[in-house]
Amino acid sequence: MHGIEKREGWSSRSAFILAAIGAAVGLGNIWRFPTLAGESGGGAFVIFYIGCVFLLGLPLLLAEIFIGRAGQTDAVGSIRNVAAHSRASSKWGWVGGLGAVAAFLVLSFYSVVAGWVLYYVGVFAGDFGSALMAGEPFRGALAGENEAAIQQRLGDMFANPGLMLGMHAVFMGLTLFIVGRGVHGGIEKAATWLMPLFFVLLVGIVIYGAVVGDMTDTLAFLFTPDWSKLTPEVMNAALGQALFSLSLGIAGIITYGSYITEGTKLGSTAALIAVADTGVALLAGLMIFPIVLSVGLDPAAGPTLVFQTLPFAFQSMPAGSLIGMLFFILIFVAAITSSISILEVPTAWGVGERGWSRPKSTLIFGGAAFLVGIACLLGYNVWKDVHPLGFWDIFADLDILDTVDGFTGKIMLPLGAFFVAVFVGWKADRKMVAETTGLSNGMLVLWRFLLAWLCPIAVAIILLTGLFPAILG
Ligand code: ALA
Repeated sequence: MHGIEKREGWSSRSAFILAAIGAAVGLGNIWRFPTLAGESGGGAFVIFYIGCVFLLGLPLLLAEIFIGRAGQTDAVGSIRNVAAHSRASSKWGWVGGLGAVAAFLVLSFYSVVAGWVLYYVGVFAGDFGSALMAGEPFRGALAGENEAAIQQRLGDMFANPGLMLGMHAVFMGLTLFIVGRGVHGGIEKAATWLMPLFFVLLVGIVIYGAVVGDMTDTLAFLFTPDWSKLTPEVMNAALGQALFSLSLGIAGIITYGSYITEGTKLGSTAALIAVADTGVALLAGLMIFPIVLSVGLDPAAGPTLVFQTLPFAFQSMPAGSLIGMLFFILIFVAAITSSISILEVPTAWGVGERGWSRPKSTLIFGGAAFLVGIACLLGYNVWKDVHPLGFWDIFADLDILDTVDGFTGKIMLPLGAFFVAVFVGWKADRKMVAETTGLSNGMLVLWRFLLAWLCPIAVAIILLTGLFPAILG
């Protein structure tokens, strides 16, 4: 077995849980979930999504943790080790390789979007600073700017590739720094400090939204289902979002699971992570929509909900610039605890399979993801309309960011999840599965049924409809 001798591990069960929740909770919860829920009409999407998390996401999550815990090395080696123990082909290791490639690609555009978040931290910090100087710390955000001017802030950023590049570099640099310091001194420490901060900010802003915003309409919007809105596209989006949000199919959970050293109860641990991730997504909805709805803005604004609609809503809110700044810090914290888990996947592979030192592996994969990120940044066709760059518009025409996002989200993640479900559901040694997970017999039967039957079928549907959108009509 590669890389088993000198490996680091989590210092406790709670360290693993915090790090795994940090991996799961990210841009997917605070940016993508409210965007999709808003676009898809609210209640029906939300209820279907919760079903997807617990019937598909949770079994897959436990399967990935099991592989890591049993395999005790990087994702490729862990699957190979479980396969060897189960007398299955060592070719299954490719599933880990697929996950590592997907993780690498996700990291490239994830860092670009997280860079936009950093820019908004700066916008609101500047605004809060000027409010303080003027002796008006409780004034609304971006005082004096009309809606068009506030929306133009995003356009200004898109028109400034140098600025976006700088923010992407800062975010990737921080990710590299943390991962380079190792599992114990980097990842675990970051999660231990940042996750409590994240939860304090989240609960604080939800309470703020409940006090100054429109919670009644929000609850009706998020939880009253209009089943006619549950179209095949919406169901597909909910399934894909469940995989993305729980970081499934990119081998991140396998890799984190491989650092579990003691006899953690895997079933309850997986359930806790799934509940926390879903709770955060719902709280993100309860944080964003009261503010958006209270000023009569459109909850179905799409991907610009967080970057344009919400900043405008903060304008008329008391202490809007302070809350705006804290809100974007919160997204930044969520994003970085996820990006470190994503970079850890190829990094662990370099260490475990190639024998590279951790700093070398981190630098190679983080550096390469940074470069692919530059292509994503230049190849985002939205900003071409804002500020044509002549020659560089060739990249924008390719629409690289959306292509990488779509390719990973619709094809690579479902593919990875499909193979994990089939591998653990059908191939993995039953005794090893039972011993490692510590599940009771009843739970084991239920889990294996979901993993062997429901997950592959549902995930194959996402995959086919992703490959052939015409199936959805
Ligand atoms: N699970 C991570 C997120 O939701 C990737 O952003």
